[in-house]
Amino acid sequence: MLLQHQTWQEVERYLGRSKGIILPIGSTEQHGPNGLIGTDAICAEIIAKGAGEAAEAMVGPTIGVGIAVHHMGFAGSMTVRPSTLIAIIHDYVLSLARHGFRRFFFVNGHGGNIATVQAAFSEIYAAFEGAIGIRRDDELRCRLANWWDGKAMHDLSKEIFGDDEGSHATASEVAVTQYALPDTIKTAVIAPPRAPTGRFHGPADYRRRFPDGRIGSNPSLATPEKGKRFYDTSIAEVAKTYTTFIGENE
Ligand code: NI
Repeated sequence: MLLQHQTWQEVERYLGRSKGIILPIGSTEQHGPNGLIGTDAICAEIIAKGAGEAAEAMVGPTIGVGIAVHHMGFAGSMTVRPSTLIAIIHDYVLSLARHGFRRFFFVNGHGGNIATVQAAFSEIYAAFEGAIGIRRDDELRCRLANWWDGKAMHDLSKEIFGDDEGSHATASEVAVTQYALPDTIKTAVIAPPRAPTGRFHGPADYRRRFPDGRIGSNPSLATPEKGKRFYDTSIAEVAKTYTTFIGENE
């Protein structure tokens, strides 16, 4: 159930039965030689939509550009400043809160967003309490869930990719985009098969240490079939976490 595919009357009816909404948040940044620039936004969006169907929840528009300063050494990468992302999240949530939404569940596709999203939640709580002085039983609550988190997802990653999963341009995220968008699957020579790992300092240093953009991964092992297994497992986990979140009243 996508917010953007509803009429205002349908949203009003939905609010009669639920105050919850799922908001996907991703990033627009290089994902190695066979990963799409939009990988993090595509994964967050498809998993939010799937989880929204499973949990009969409204799904809002995707925040497509996140915190990606360290990827700016690669063509096509985009970033916003933390203060910009905080302002975007604040304004999305307060817009929806005006209509009666009270439970905001962000499905995140990018590790680099986590600290800023949590800071945005603090801004929102401060603004909401100050501006509206809402009753305690009608509190506004925000939650962040990374689509790749949880025991079932970690076990699946271990089983399918083992040490080739990596930490950027991961085999599983590339597989999920291949399942989501089979027409965009790239063929590329990936060498060495598994990328190096380690720390980096800023965009130029990142590119020097990880010349094709990957960290620790071998995304040549990705297939749409493997992507479907990650998708199915993730939407079940995310839907369960969402349902628990909106059911919590204490
Ligand atoms: Ni990613």
